[in-house]
Amino acid sequence: MKVLITGSNGLLGQKLLHKLRVDDAIILIATSKGENRVSEKNGYTYFDLDITNKDAVAQLIASEKPQVIINTAAMTNVDLCEEKKEACDTLNVDVVQYLADACEKIDSHLIHISTDFIFDGQDGPYTEEDEPNPLSYYGLSKLKSENILKQSNCNWTILRTIIVFGVGENLSKSNIVLWAKGALAKCEPLNIIDDQFRAPTLAEDLADACILAARKKAYGIFNTSGKDIMSIYEIVERIAKHYGNTTENLNKISTATLNQTAGRPPKTGFILDKARKILGYNPHSFEECLTIIDKQLEN
Ligand SMILES: NC(=O)c1ccc[n+]([C@@H]2O[C@H](COP(=O)([O-])OP(=O)(O)OC[C@H]3O[C@@H](n4cnc5c(N)ncnc54)[C@H](OP(=O)(O)O)[C@@H]3O)[C@@H](O)[C@H]2O)c1
Repeated sequence: MKVLITGSNGLLGQKLLHKLRVDDAIILIATSKGENRVSEKNGYTYFDLDITNKDAVAQLIASEKPQVIINTAAMTNVDLCEEKKEACDTLNVDVVQYLADACEKIDSHLIHISTDFIFDGQDGPYTEEDEPNPLSYYGLSKLKSENILKQSNCNWTILRTIIVFGVGENLSKSNIVLWAKGALAKCEPLNIIDDQFRAPTLAEDLADACILAARKKAYGIFNTSGKDIMSIYEIVERIAKHYGNTTENLNKISTATLNQTAGRPPKTGFILDKARKILGYNPHSFEECLTIIDKQLEN
């Protein structure tokens, strides 16, 4: 099976790259914008591909003919998407149309990642059938991308996920676990929101969901987040306990005090039954994830 990944310099992209490059049954093509920032160069071919370049995307897919394309590239900064709506639309919406069109021509399977931010967070956790109502432009852009696939004739899978975290190499952004671990170690006061609830997702678990969907040719929408739903405060508290940091410096604050540019859904989280049953998705508990991260940081 020939698999092409977009955004291979990103967190999910790197996890997919490392899992797939060692599989002899897979011919792997990794693509991202600019140079390859992953130091391991064996087991795959890398192409510098700006996926907003419609012609370049069409050309590469037509010449390489991958059976599976996993689209991990996106504009993920929620407040930036609110400020730069056009750029957000280009990367999170238009690109999905380019990929769907290219996939349709060669009958390949497109696996795309969406988010809990398509929901308003009034009555999470959500099933795949619940009605979306995004509060932010980021959420709206991802909902638009889902609708493109629903209207497309290509074989598609949408994996919805929530706060992705993990260890990567030369990443352009941090994530909640690495940030909290570093901030807690400084023993300074930290203000943490306690009125937003999420199910954070280990990047390896999400990569496994992508690979399961590819192998099983499982089409449609699947919830593929972590299994523990917690407030952001509880997430940081559990990280503190795991690393033996005091929680005395943690102050609970409300979302309203932050005055963020984009709206955030108060309570999301996903019901994972469909992904467990059809994909065989089996995410780690949050504490197991922290132990996996410890081992990676040791190396
Ligand atoms: N992170 C989360 O908490 C979260 C939550 C819900 C859903 N998701 C979704 O999960 C997916 C993966 O997220 P992630 O955390 O792995 O994101 P990420 O670490 O930001 O990775 C995205 C990658 O896409 C690359 N990219 C950006 N613009 C590009 C372009 N024009 N052409 C080619 N590549 C480009 C980025 O390159 P640079 O590294 O050079 O910037 C980055 O490496 C995304 O679809 C995201 O929306 C993420």
